[in-house]
Amino acid sequence: MIGFMLTLMAAYLIGAIPCGLVLARFVGLGDIRTVGSGNIGATNVYRVGGRRLGVATLFLDALKGLLPVLAALYLYPDSPWAVSLVAAAAFLGHCYPVYLGFKGGKGVATGLGIYLVLSPWAVLVSLGIFAGVLWKWSYVSLASLCAAGAIPLLVVLFERSLPLFLVTLFISGMVIFRHRANIERLLSGTENRFRA
Ligand code: G3P
Repeated sequence: MIGFMLTLMAAYLIGAIPCGLVLARFVGLGDIRTVGSGNIGATNVYRVGGRRLGVATLFLDALKGLLPVLAALYLYPDSPWAVSLVAAAAFLGHCYPVYLGFKGGKGVATGLGIYLVLSPWAVLVSLGIFAGVLWKWSYVSLASLCAAGAIPLLVVLFERSLPLFLVTLFISGMVIFRHRANIERLLSGTENRFRA
């Protein structure tokens, strides 16, 4: 039990590493929380710092979900509940990082890393949804919301695992909740459009 609690804590602490903030500071952009949308995620880093920095943030934030889940699969191969809880811990770390006073990101890239391991087919379809919505309307937030809304259904379709479904409902709900400022901007027509 203590070993599992330590694994959860390690997953949380890895998820909590604010990669976008660190990268932006490293290249001299200052505090990413004070520019653009104020988010520490890949979209805002891309918006402020350009394509390479945005893609690097996406990659590192996804790794924060992917690596803890891979470790959990190795440590608890027979317990989908344990693996799902480790995934939730890494995700919560990104959204509520202890290093930043519990004010973190929206969880899309970290969720991507988690589902690349736990449900690659669901990721493939949700990436298609994301790309389609982004192509049509040019809002990353709207694309993220649509993908987050679809992923519980896709996980049911492809995985048929109760713990994974429950944690997916939680992750999906959190992603939508963390986008509430974006939803307000989308409704008022003031959301930032994505420019490639
Ligand atoms: O993953 C975050 C994205 O959906 C929205 O980012 O910076 O436009 O709030 P941002």
